[in-house]
Amino acid sequence: MKTITITRPDDWHLHVRNGAILKTVMPHTAKQFARAIIMPNLKPPVTSVAQALIYREEILQAVPAGLDFMPLMTLYLTGSTSADEIKMAAASEHVHAFKLYPAGATTNSDSGVADIKSIYPLLAALEKHDIPLLIHGEVTDEACDIFDRERVFIDKYLNDIICNFPELRIVVEHVTTTEAVDFVKACGNTVAATITPQHLLFNRNAILAGGIKPHYYCLPILKRESHRLALVKAASSGNPKFFLGTDSAPHLSDLKENACGCAGCYSAHAALELYAEAFEQGDALHKLEGFASFHGADFYRLPRNSGTVTLEKASWKVPSTYGENNLSITPLKANEELSWKLKLD
Ligand code: NCD
Ligand code: ZN
Repeated sequence: MKTITITRPDDWHLHVRNGAILKTVMPHTAKQFARAIIMPNLKPPVTSVAQALIYREEILQAVPAGLDFMPLMTLYLTGSTSADEIKMAAASEHVHAFKLYPAGATTNSDSGVADIKSIYPLLAALEKHDIPLLIHGEVTDEACDIFDRERVFIDKYLNDIICNFPELRIVVEHVTTTEAVDFVKACGNTVAATITPQHLLFNRNAILAGGIKPHYYCLPILKRESHRLALVKAASSGNPKFFLGTDSAPHLSDLKENACGCAGCYSAHAALELYAEAFEQGDALHKLEGFASFHGADFYRLPRNSGTVTLEKASWKVPSTYGENNLSITPLKANEELSWKLKLD
């Protein structure tokens, strides 16, 4: 049987929530990934080192016995983040980045930053303490077409941030456009990007053609095919600026199958398998290891993992939902066949 073995990978952008959802999703991530950058957009958001340490413990409790998984915590940047908190985060071995959400850009982003220029002193502190800044790069301007929000954010804000803070390490999270790929490539080594499985596998037809399919709705929204092709090319190019970040974002099924469905695709159940499918379609399976297991660790200046994971070419059907006791999370490709399967020892 055809197999592929790679160094154990990491997920550099992951939502696991808390409570019952956390318990449901954590085993999926921990069986494939050694580490994950944990997003701080809980309700209320994780804004302090003290909160991040409590949340970290809750995550560790949800990791099944026998699996070795390390959550890498992040803090949510707000207009009221203090310079002291940044200093404490820099000193903490468990906090690895700050996340910048423009206010109102996505799920639980109400506490985000309304005026990006006003937080420049905080960005200076991040630069000084050498803590990476993770950016949800979309403008929130109602007048801006939803398909243009990433491109406009780059022109309006990202260029200026990079000019003002040339030493600040920045991850442009979940890039979705040709413009974002070209921008990241043109920047120096301080700027990198994560790419999700859904943006590598699907274009916007997946949401809108043949009926509205809410489980494909995430932010930034899926774009047209030419952008998807640019993302596949970037991810499989071997360029160390691009690495794996699923943005797996579990929501209860009825909150997505709703007149006003919320944003986020759940992909942790089959993250590596989905990436393998995308890389295989791009004839680039040999580039999966760098993207999944090396580039992110190098950017975050963490050691690469030891150990390996193996995928085998074997089809399996994704369940319609995950979760027990009235909990229902609909995964990406629910009820559909996947062609790669993680081999569990
Ligand atoms: C994320 C979520 O649900 O927390 N949703 C999404 O569509 N990606 C938030 C985010 O990363 O934008
Ligand atoms: Zn996210």
